[in-house]
Amino acid sequence: MHNTLSTLLIAGTLSMGLSGITLAGPREDLLAQFASSAKAANPAFQGFSAERGKALHTRNFTSGKADSPSCTSCHGTSPLAAGKNATGKVIEAVAVSVTPTRYTDPAKVEKWFKRNCNEVIGRECTVTEKGDWLSYVISL
Ligand code: HEC
Repeated sequence: MHNTLSTLLIAGTLSMGLSGITLAGPREDLLAQFASSAKAANPAFQGFSAERGKALHTRNFTSGKADSPSCTSCHGTSPLAAGKNATGKVIEAVAVSVTPTRYTDPAKVEKWFKRNCNEVIGRECTVTEKGDWLSYVISL
């Protein structure tokens, strides 16, 4: 009796652990981290918005570098299409549906958010802006 119960408990724990691994990927973990930082910074935080992310993607800023006023300057207007940088180097589409390997390396994501937000906006993006933008490109 005791052994059977333990076996069931162990089997249950294992299967829960395995389904957890399949469901939560690095992108979901990153978004969850961003959401808890956003909530810590602003208790009224209601969640990320793909709509706001889209607005950020296409907005023209005057506070950053003149030759890259928008995310679209390099990534193109449609996240579903490839973009290119100033030297003509092709940048694969930022939409996850087109480039499934995107945003699976948190260090890469942070590195480019930092660099690109500074270029475009002239400051780092807030955690809400990052979460909104990621929600947008993941939603497409
Ligand atoms: C000056 C050109 C340029 C601009 C402007 C630009 N990016 Fe990028 N971005 C790149 C390059 C180059 C890469 C790295 C190559 C790649 O991931 O294909 C990149 C990668 C990224 C990544 C990481 C992608 C990954 O797979 O992890 C994110 C996030 C990102 N950009 C967000 C933005 C946002 C948000 C904006 C607007 C605020 C923006 N970028 C504007 C050139 C640019």
